[in-house]
Amino acid sequence: MIAQTEEDMRRFGRRLAGSLQAGDWISIDGPLGAGKTVLCKGILEGLGFTGEVTSPSYAIIHQYDPPEVKIRVIHADLYRIDDAAEIEQLGLDDQGDDCITLVEWACRAADLGKPSHRIKIDPMPNGFRKIETKIGDD
Ligand SMILES: Nc1ncnc2c1ncn2[C@@H]1O[C@H](COP(=O)(O)OP(=O)(O)OP(=O)(O)O)[C@@H](O)[C@H]1O
Ligand SMILES: [Mg+2]
Repeated sequence: MIAQTEEDMRRFGRRLAGSLQAGDWISIDGPLGAGKTVLCKGILEGLGFTGEVTSPSYAIIHQYDPPEVKIRVIHADLYRIDDAAEIEQLGLDDQGDDCITLVEWACRAADLGKPSHRIKIDPMPNGFRKIETKIGDD
């Protein structure tokens, strides 16, 4: 699908949130500024979060707990990670099945987790964003 604007991307995220359940793992890839964090904002909004969503670039992981969200959400950004040990320390894999995990730059840790959804965002020359979603682990 195509998101022409930031608001389209958020709407896509809100809609996607409605089909997510605890245990889902969403890998989100695309170049710098593609709209990965915007998509995560939409997903969090769809899960009931009304606060400000910031990029976890520096903290690497942000966590959102009920009642602020319907289901606990882990939002990670692996851009600054370059070493397997560092990824392991994050404990992303140990979060159990009671949360939804959103991972920006998941391609930096190709064998981390088992994505239930893989989303690729491609900026187009006109500024629109092409979104490819794969559900399941094929
Ligand atoms: N169609 C669109 N969809 C999403 N974002 C858009 C769109 N058009 C313009 N933008 C703008 O692109 C920027 C996307 O920024 P965002 O932080 O979401 O990117 P990112 O992929 O998370 O980058 P990073 O790799 O640095 O984490 C925002 O400033 C947003 O307003
Ligand atoms: Mg981002």
